Amino acid sequence: TLAGLDLRAEIDRLRKEKNAVILAHYYQRPELQDLADFVGDSLDLSRKAQATDADVIAFCGVRFMAETAKILSPDKIVVLPDMDAGCSLEDSCPPAAFAAFRAAHPDHIALTYINCSAEVKGLSDIIVTSSSAEKILSQIPKDQKIIFGPDKHLGGYLARKTGREMLLWPGVCIVHEAFSETELLKLKAQHPAAPIAAHPECPAHIVEHADYVGSTSGILDYAKSMPGDTLIVATEPHIMHQMELALPHKHFIGAPGADGNCNCNICPYMALNTMEKLYIALRDLEPRIEMEEGLRLRAKKSLDRMLDMAG
Ligand code: 13P
Ligand code: SF4
Repeated sequence: TLAGLDLRAEIDRLRKEKNAVILAHYYQRPELQDLADFVGDSLDLSRKAQATDADVIAFCGVRFMAETAKILSPDKIVVLPDMDAGCSLEDSCPPAAFAAFRAAHPDHIALTYINCSAEVKGLSDIIVTSSSAEKILSQIPKDQKIIFGPDKHLGGYLARKTGREMLLWPGVCIVHEAFSETELLKLKAQHPAAPIAAHPECPAHIVEHADYVGSTSGILDYAKSMPGDTLIVATEPHIMHQMELALPHKHFIGAPGADGNCNCNICPYMALNTMEKLYIALRDLEPRIEMEEGLRLRAKKSLDRMLDMAG
């Protein structure tokens, strides 16, 4: 039993003993963000995973993020506290169906959001994150036809913003899909001076009300530079923990779902990771990400192009 253990102290002891680095995404529980060596968005976390000289990467995030760490740092042991921490975008895009979609459009390249399986990365030409997508898209010749998957909302946002038509895979993030436009407008009416920041995984009817649209780290930067002292945040609410730490005098309000509060927008996959499971993962070095080398190399090609083009 773990009862009576000082989990924070035990995790600290194990991290030193195993020469481990703890990486956490902004959507993780506050207690996991607080003890991580580094907290970041998907692109930052990929770069940290690639550059670390630790022997073990304990990834507090979802499986595609831990897989990305393993693809970029194959000699490290990569543990994920809960192997069931998936992603609705990954689930929406089975590799066989994606391969068929590609085959039906042989004159298109596949620009693919990092929120997908290693198999789908292997079937793609270039990976993007929400913080790098516009920069990468701007480097692709104008006459090049593009398939964008698996997030139709991010793809739609990029198409509207850049004027480039893309063939979209019909996947969605269940978390960002759950915001209610009606409830958001009610909240805005109560705080008319507060800007709205939204993640581009939100549907168009949410993004169109936003003063700022960007990745988690982009939203965090916006909170630091925004006018006024109150921000309405349309992304997974755990990011507000970092805002509250960095900006204790400002006020952050999570955008609501249909029930009028932001709790329905907690990512159920991210929430699977807990202090207890992180402790066990560091103690046992399990559950571990393992990947067949051929698949790793196929996926690495499209990830390397992202890292090159993102600059
Ligand atoms: P970013 O942190 O790259 O903005 O990604 C958000 C997300 O939904 C991760 O699952
Ligand atoms: Fe996937 Fe959405 Fe959860 Fe991110 S927030 S891991 S995109 S389900």
